[in-house]
Amino acid sequence: MKNISVNGIKLAYDRRGQGTPLVLLHGFPLDHTSWNEVASILEDHFDVILPDLRGFGESTTVNSPYSISDMADDIAGLLDSLGIEQVAIAGHSMGGYVALSFLKNYPKRVSGLGLISSQAAADTPERKDGRYKTAVEVAEKGVSVVADAMSPKLSADERVRVFVRESILQQSQAALIGALKAMATREDMTSLLASIEGQYPVVLLHGNDDVLISIERSKEIADLLKLSRLFEIPGAGHMPMMEFTKETALALDFLRP
Ligand code: MLT
Repeated sequence: MKNISVNGIKLAYDRRGQGTPLVLLHGFPLDHTSWNEVASILEDHFDVILPDLRGFGESTTVNSPYSISDMADDIAGLLDSLGIEQVAIAGHSMGGYVALSFLKNYPKRVSGLGLISSQAAADTPERKDGRYKTAVEVAEKGVSVVADAMSPKLSADERVRVFVRESILQQSQAALIGALKAMATREDMTSLLASIEGQYPVVLLHGNDDVLISIERSKEIADLLKLSRLFEIPGAGHMPMMEFTKETALALDFLRP
């Protein structure tokens, strides 16, 4: 993996293939490797950029609180250092929140948007409380608390469960705590999304069996953006890029001009 210095952290990233620049952002609390299988298909047509979001994988973090917007700014810094002005950007779940924030902060730098198992809505007060409680638990007991609670909810596929559990156990407490607080304070992006209708391709992909974020959240976005494409994946949970790799790659191919 390569890395750059940006906004006081070391940001690690992988880069593969040639073609339209495409940034794939991972979800919570994983790292870029959750995209490996899809990236190996997409790299035939895309210049695929796979960052580890701040704190995760091989990227470092800061102890002071940060926001989803700060994570989006890290991605802009990465693209600056790679000399890339405009990209298609797709995010899985929390990665989708970062993609939306990137779109808000850098509207002219986006040539396509993909939201995988994600949403535009902000947290409900209950969800926010839950995140702060989880952050305290992670500080006290370590990341295994989240690995145990989350892995069974991410997928019904045993292979994927084993992968995500091992991946979560490799992440740092600071990354989980920082990201939980960042997600709790993120903005609702619904009106921002409404303003991009027709400007560039928007791909939505969601598993019907996702128990972490309901497919209804993607259907709401599809209703808002009539020109978006919604791919509903029957039998997929929250990790469609690993559960239905080919289907996910095919959907993201619509981000090619
Ligand atoms: C994720 O997969 O990134 C998280 O489940 C997102 C969230 O907790 O909102």
